[in-house]
Amino acid sequence: MEEKIIEIKAVNKGYQLGDDTVPVLKDIDFTVKKGEFVAILGPSGSGKTTLMNIIGCMDLLDSGEYYLNGRAIHEKKESELTQVRNQEIGFIFQNYQLIPTYNVMQNIIMPLLIRGMGHREAKKKCSEIVKLLGIAHRLDHKPNELSGGQKQRVSIARALASEPAILLADEPTGALDSASGQEVLKLFDNLNRLGNTIVMITHDLKVAKAAQRIVRIEDGCLIEKHLNAQ
Ligand SMILES: Nc1ncnc2c1ncn2[C@@H]1O[C@H](COP(=O)(O)OP(=O)(O)OP(=O)(O)O)[C@@H](O)[C@H]1O
Ligand SMILES: [Mg+2]
Repeated sequence: MEEKIIEIKAVNKGYQLGDDTVPVLKDIDFTVKKGEFVAILGPSGSGKTTLMNIIGCMDLLDSGEYYLNGRAIHEKKESELTQVRNQEIGFIFQNYQLIPTYNVMQNIIMPLLIRGMGHREAKKKCSEIVKLLGIAHRLDHKPNELSGGQKQRVSIARALASEPAILLADEPTGALDSASGQEVLKLFDNLNRLGNTIVMITHDLKVAKAAQRIVRIEDGCLIEKHLNAQ
């Protein structure tokens, strides 16, 4: 049997508005197997970011169960989530979230150093990854000296460096022109072929089609549609 990396069962999440709770995620069931590349597709306001925050252990759920790489996340307190997040999730954001005063190498190794890895080992890890991502010749450049596509490669390198259980990408091509966006999606495809599990959130069907499997989120409900199984 294939190993499940993400198992979300009957998850509900709402936001408090005065005395009322406005439901946002409604009885969500969602499973991702190790090695899958899944896109979550939905329009604005459908609950994508809310779901990403749950999957990324940035927010607690109201009810239901969430197992990430065998850990029962729904049983954890907010204070325990940070460690899980650091160990299991590699985040990739639309706006890269690189540190502008750090060069490429420093941006990539910073999370490793924070986790206690030695400088030498972190640099070695970094040099392996940047070769794979085609940014090895940019190590001493600052983010503002890079194109958007290169910046996103750096943020992907930073995410990969920690060897997370999943790469979690929120509109990773949203700030890129279509050619650079296509390159990032191709890179995801390559990384997936190398065994990385990827969950990508997007409102754009063209982007979602880069994934092996697409699930739709509409008004807080998840609908499995085999759009890619033509
Ligand atoms: N902190 C909050 N407090 C109250 N309501 C919220 C909060 N965050 C989100 N919402 C509401 O929850 C719903 C889903 O929001 P969410 O940000 O998850 O949507 P989204 O699919 O990411 O949208 P977009 O594509 O515009 O980013 C929206 O109706 C939104 O107004
Ligand atoms: Mg959003």
